[in-house]
Amino acid sequence: MTKPSSHQSYQELCNQIWSHNKAYYVDHRPVISDEEFDHLMHQLEQMEKEHPEWISSASPTQRVGEMLTEGFQTVAHRTPMLSLANSYSKDEVQDFIHRVKKLTRSQDVAFSCELKMDGIAISAQFEKGIFVRGITRGDGKKGDDITQNLRTVAAFPLQLIGPSAPDFLEVRGEIFMPKQVFQKLNAEKELEGEDLWANPRNAAAGSLKLLDPNETRRRKLDVVFYGIGQDSQDALTSQFTCHALLKSYGLPILHQVEKCHTLEEIWEFVEKVRTLRASLPFEIDGVVIKLDSLAEQKRLGSTGKNPRWAVAYKFAAEQAETDIYSITVQVGRTGVLTPVAELKPVFLAGSTIARATLHNEEEVLRKDIREGDSVIIEKGGDVIPKVVLVNFDKRKSDSHPWKMPTHCPSCGALVARSVDEVAVKCPNTLHCPEQQLRRLIYFAGKFAMDIEHMGEKVVEQLVRLGFVKRPSDIYALTSEQLFQLEGFKTKSVENLITSIEKSKDVSFSRFIMALGIKHVGEGTAELLAKRAGNVHILMQMTTEELLQIEGIGEKVATAIVEYFADARNQEEIQLLLQRGVLPQEVKSISHKGHPFDAKTFVLTGTLKQYTRPAAATLIKERGGKVTNSVSSKTDYLLAGEDPGSKLDKAKSLQVRILTEEEFQAMLD
Ligand code: IVH
Repeated sequence: MTKPSSHQSYQELCNQIWSHNKAYYVDHRPVISDEEFDHLMHQLEQMEKEHPEWISSASPTQRVGEMLTEGFQTVAHRTPMLSLANSYSKDEVQDFIHRVKKLTRSQDVAFSCELKMDGIAISAQFEKGIFVRGITRGDGKKGDDITQNLRTVAAFPLQLIGPSAPDFLEVRGEIFMPKQVFQKLNAEKELEGEDLWANPRNAAAGSLKLLDPNETRRRKLDVVFYGIGQDSQDALTSQFTCHALLKSYGLPILHQVEKCHTLEEIWEFVEKVRTLRASLPFEIDGVVIKLDSLAEQKRLGSTGKNPRWAVAYKFAAEQAETDIYSITVQVGRTGVLTPVAELKPVFLAGSTIARATLHNEEEVLRKDIREGDSVIIEKGGDVIPKVVLVNFDKRKSDSHPWKMPTHCPSCGALVARSVDEVAVKCPNTLHCPEQQLRRLIYFAGKFAMDIEHMGEKVVEQLVRLGFVKRPSDIYALTSEQLFQLEGFKTKSVENLITSIEKSKDVSFSRFIMALGIKHVGEGTAELLAKRAGNVHILMQMTTEELLQIEGIGEKVATAIVEYFADARNQEEIQLLLQRGVLPQEVKSISHKGHPFDAKTFVLTGTLKQYTRPAAATLIKERGGKVTNSVSSKTDYLLAGEDPGSKLDKAKSLQVRILTEEEFQAMLD
């Protein structure tokens, strides 16, 4: 055989194997036996041994790539990966349908109804049919490059089937760990005395982020796709047909998909899926309802993070009955005392539960929860398990009502109660060991500095050994000290040092979160980061300046000013900066220089491409403001068809008038 013809036979064999892969993983109708499949793979391996120069990255043999040494690269998404607004009742779904009907000005709207997979959202890019890059959702704007690990997923094709693959295709879907795999791997972990995964989603997330693709392959992850991020052919017009298109490329898809027109049809689907849920081989946490027309989806746009054209209906939490051994009290980072039920371990919604929060004293008394009671607990998705109610029929005759301790279980200080808060607090803010520990755990945790490998147990040890007392101490840790941690060897010490280093390059909003200022959550931190730009400016902002930020009220502004007025906090921030923590300055990104920045808009008339709220969001995202009526302060009037009196007023005030086309052109 001459070289060119056998190269052709090599490629034909690759294609053949990929179609068998599709038959097995996508159509669930294998055409050949496993032995025959293995035989084909073996033939291919032989050919590749003889002609290593032929091996392409899309060969079925090329599932496992090199081990990552530097961790995961962050890459920007070409189009943002949004998240869904949640709803929990039929009424809320009804509201969604009404909203969509109103926005689309149509009474007959089609929806694509799908399973809501409880996994990890990912995006996969194909160039000329060849898989080139996989990215996690991350914060929606940028995620981690997981190309190597995605390659290891058996159901994921490294090459699209068929001759008509677009030049560029970005698909979106979900990586998950099948229930059976989860149970098996967790059982193995238990035998080896390792920490168990809480649920299949955590297991999938952890497995996807392993540096060794070989190890990821052992985790037997699976994948399905349900959407298209970008398609150079741009042939698609409906969400419902998207599934068939994905499938034709050989991509695994969701099975239970239905096109519905009315609330009744949608609800029938919901009920069907609810019944099916337990028997599915993977975890789902609800149903996703999407407006079917892609053109209308675009027109409706999104409100920041959520599209207006879709909603998730989430199933109620699953419940189980178990006994409360005892009620203990946890001290949080702000000193709040939280009662916790220590339970007889029970399996619920994919994991074993041994503790449940009782929230606060008032809740325990209201539900009359006592030690020794048999209780109904529930858990849904991410939520910490909670006690719903007591089974009074089983209450023991010698039980007695629970009481909040009068002294802090950690430092012994007399607890404080305030009239306007339900929370009971330990007032010993500075010296209570548990509060200090919780603050440090929070500081290193995923909402703040996100220091990998520095979980609760590690922080606890660092504190116990006296190496860390306050956050800045983390950045002065030495490898000699880390070697003293339980089970830490060269590799684990190196990993921890690397992640401490990595955490220094933190976004400004995360850094603000890490400071743990009272009342400042994720949303507020982002607002502050955007407005202040850097920490030095933030530290000097006055209450009045803070109040000017939309979304920040009196209580929050006061808390921020008080925080930065405290000399100890100032000193700690200085130390963090001196030790190399470098919050990335926010340069009012994208807005500065954008023609919409700081401009005031009024919208009138009917737009063709966008609803008015969608256009307003686009303006605000670029630093502009939208008001209702035209005045001398208006910079632009965006006028659609049939504009009303606003147009005349704008003309008389010589306000610049934009057509939809002009607006569109100025957008980017
Ligand atoms: S569509 C804006 N479809 O839900 C469109 N998402 O809260 C969002 N998810 O991050 C994606 N099943 O991880 C879509 N059939 C489905 C889904 C689904 C699960 C997840 C996905 C996303 C999250 C949104």
